[in-house]
Amino acid sequence: MLKIKDLHAGYGKLKILKGIDFAIKPGQIVSIIGPNGAGKSTLLKSIFNICDVYSGEILFKGNSISHLPTYDLILEGISYSPQGRHIFPDLTVNENLEMGLYIFKDKKYVKKKIEDIYNKFPILKEKKEKLAYSLSGGQQQILSIARSLLHEPSLLLLDEPSLGLDPKTQKEIFKTIKEINKDGISIIIVEQNAKQASEISDVIYVLEDGKVALKGDKSILKDKRIKEVYFGGR
Ligand SMILES: Nc1ncnc2c1ncn2[C@@H]1O[C@H](COP(=O)(O)OP(=O)(O)OP(=O)(O)O)[C@@H](O)[C@H]1O
Ligand SMILES: [Mg+2]
Repeated sequence: MLKIKDLHAGYGKLKILKGIDFAIKPGQIVSIIGPNGAGKSTLLKSIFNICDVYSGEILFKGNSISHLPTYDLILEGISYSPQGRHIFPDLTVNENLEMGLYIFKDKKYVKKKIEDIYNKFPILKEKKEKLAYSLSGGQQQILSIARSLLHEPSLLLLDEPSLGLDPKTQKEIFKTIKEINKDGISIIIVEQNAKQASEISDVIYVLEDGKVALKGDKSILKDKRIKEVYFGGR
């Protein structure tokens, strides 16, 4: 699905990713965990071409995409939900979804797409006329994820979907992610919640200082180095 070889990326002179190899197969969920500042968000941004890629290769369905503009990447089937829920707080839920489809002038088409989203996420239908800021944190997160599904991606990039949510709501978000995956969408998740993310993931990458420190299935959480970082060595 997506393959990354020896990726070096960052922001201007600030080099963050220092030789990343990464892969996700069709239908998989892959998590990226690691300490703050490790470069997790930067890895997602490199795929979506919203930071500087210095060298290396990013292949999507066998084709190099490193130099495609973001707009083309969306058309190719990649979607991105950034860290911190980028929704429009002063617009209604319905208007937020319409904004995600503003490039389409065909009103009927837009209505149909949004109807599909409401069928998938009944809570959004219930709240469609409410201003987005009045939604709970979990509902805002669902709105953000729903927006990234409007273009029917085959690969979804989610940056910290559970951030700032209480444990029960986090569980619901992970359940939602799993359901999206069951529809055949491959998903890359960046997560602080290593344990919950690992439960739904086929592969986990641990990033440290711009490099892949570890890679494997959820058994790697038992690794001594991981325990030191996440659970204070216990
Ligand atoms: N737009 C930017 N311009 C310059 N430097 C940036 C920018 N975004 C991030 N950085 C820097 O890149 C480094 C890696 O950031 P990144 O956001 O990828 O980390 P992260 O692993 O996602 O961390 P966190 O867990 O805190 O979200 C940090 O030192 C950060 O300050
Ligand atoms: Mg981040």
